[in-house]
Amino acid sequence: RLSGLGAVKRGTMRKPNFRDVFSRFADDMHAEGTAVTAQIIMQGAQPHSASGVLANYTNNQPTHVLTYDEIQRTIDEYAFTAAEAEAAGFDGVEMHANHEDVMQLFISPYTNRRTDAYGGDFDARLRFPMEAFAAMRAVTGPGFVIGMRFNMDEFFEGGYDLAEGIRIAQAFEASGHIDYLHCVIGNNWGAPSYVQPHVFGRAQWAEMAGKFRAALSIPVIYGGRVSDPEAGEAVLAEGHADVVSIARAFFADEDFVAKARAGSSDTIRPCIGCNDCLHAAAIDGLPFGCSVNPRAGREAEPAPAPVPSPRRVTVVGGGPAGMEAAAVAAERGHHVTLWDRAPQLGGLMRVAGAVPENAAYLAFIDHQTARLTEAGVNLKLGEEATADTILADAPDVVLLATGTRPRTLDASGVDAPFVVEGRDVLMGTADVGRNVVVIAREDHMQPLTVTSALLERGCSVRVIYQTPGVAPGVGKYSIGGILGKLTGQGATFTVMTRVAAIAPDKLTLKCVYSGVESEMTDFDTVVLACGGTPDAGLYDALNGKGPEVRIFGDAYVPNRILHATRQAYENACLI
Ligand SMILES: Cc1cc2nc3c(=O)[nH]c(=O)nc-3n(C[C@H](O)[C@H](O)[C@H](O)COP(=O)(O)O)c2cc1C
Ligand code: SF4
Repeated sequence: RLSGLGAVKRGTMRKPNFRDVFSRFADDMHAEGTAVTAQIIMQGAQPHSASGVLANYTNNQPTHVLTYDEIQRTIDEYAFTAAEAEAAGFDGVEMHANHEDVMQLFISPYTNRRTDAYGGDFDARLRFPMEAFAAMRAVTGPGFVIGMRFNMDEFFEGGYDLAEGIRIAQAFEASGHIDYLHCVIGNNWGAPSYVQPHVFGRAQWAEMAGKFRAALSIPVIYGGRVSDPEAGEAVLAEGHADVVSIARAFFADEDFVAKARAGSSDTIRPCIGCNDCLHAAAIDGLPFGCSVNPRAGREAEPAPAPVPSPRRVTVVGGGPAGMEAAAVAAERGHHVTLWDRAPQLGGLMRVAGAVPENAAYLAFIDHQTARLTEAGVNLKLGEEATADTILADAPDVVLLATGTRPRTLDASGVDAPFVVEGRDVLMGTADVGRNVVVIAREDHMQPLTVTSALLERGCSVRVIYQTPGVAPGVGKYSIGGILGKLTGQGATFTVMTRVAAIAPDKLTLKCVYSGVESEMTDFDTVVLACGGTPDAGLYDALNGKGPEVRIFGDAYVPNRILHATRQAYENACLI
């Protein structure tokens, strides 16, 4: 349990086939002209810590406090790992001393309360990572790069702040052990998290990295929402870092670098900051994936095959599922027509794009629109497709990505004029007063996006959830940043509560568990954010009438963008 990755599994470098696999990987990467480094992680609280304390407001996990002897064994393990990486042909290793790694737990004055040689004053807190670096240096050659990924500021009462962070970095530089410092921010509980969601700005913390760069002479890397080449270039031009690091934008478009180099950044598929690349795999247990790129994680698979004999394909619905299906089908050579009743593509994604933090949604829709145009898809926008109009075109295949209709609430008074639908709020077509209550019966982003739109308009917003927590479908790497923003703007949240009756002067509330009754007053408008119900009527109308009919995305069952694009891709590959 001391031997590597998260300390819960056998360390990767201890696997018998490690050298073979990793040296082939290194050779392949070198052949492409890139350097290769490995990051050494010993994630905190999995299950280890410095002294049983986490700098974390929401994680109450008990931990195992490393003993003196275990620290010595771990230092040996860092040395073994670095030596193995070098033997496999890697150019260097990076110590993960960020993201609540055990190393950060030792460095931080809040989480390190030890009284032995590895805790207490400044030098003692740095001793464990210092000794690990020294041990790695001792077993690797002079040209082998050793870097440190570092949390610039813990943003936690009692933790180290930016000034202290710079002092810590200077101490590591002075030791002569590290070749570069990789500056990031974020914590496990999430405001901001290690993987900052869409509510944060592009490269938002780069200026902090610039302060490290000014105080150090080794190269400084900045990482965190460098989501497009322009954001990265700006960080470099402003002198905040020598290098930028990028994670999610590479999942969204594996050709990010090639496109940037070729001067065609505008063709890069934009990351929307939804964090499903993490949440789907780490939390839902789904295979790794990306909401905007159904090929993420499967890049080595051949691209969808061109079709030997093109078919006439009608796609109904221009949301994320319909756009992806139409693009893939047309790129494979089919003759594709895409219908949407709205005058513009995007479906609910465009509706949700009304709030400033979802600007990347609009960029993604633009990307898909360009792709559809390039692939020669015939767009029929602003036209309602009916079974008759579809059949009149005599398609061979109909792909239904018709999305959802708003779901209503089962409560008396729901039809009152002051009760409006969340989608209408986002589209700006609902009459909304100053004091608003949002009834949240969707577990993912919809109620939070509606709340954000209302706050933008200057409303005072109270949100009621039936679930024991707010937005249970939003993963831990996103929820903190989002709730930090909304509560910072004044939104309040009530949980475990259902709205049993709606009247002009009061809402009758009941605790979902005990049934204990209460009421809420002083509102002008009630907004329903209850998600959607599949809009699947065309399936019954078309099935058995000649064309092959497929239905997917929200029209099959409402879910996240990740599911919509993935199902669309798979279906478009099957026709
Ligand atoms: C799927 C996934 C896995 C990650 N794994 C690691 C990791 O092993 N070590 C690490 O330091 N950061 C990890 N991160 C965080 C990223 O390195 C990066 O700091 C963060 O995503 C912000 O950068 P970005 O905006 O370019 O994505 C991971 C992020 C994602 C989305
Ligand atoms: S899943 Fe979302 S956050 Fe992750 S890379 Fe794709 S678009 Fe970006």
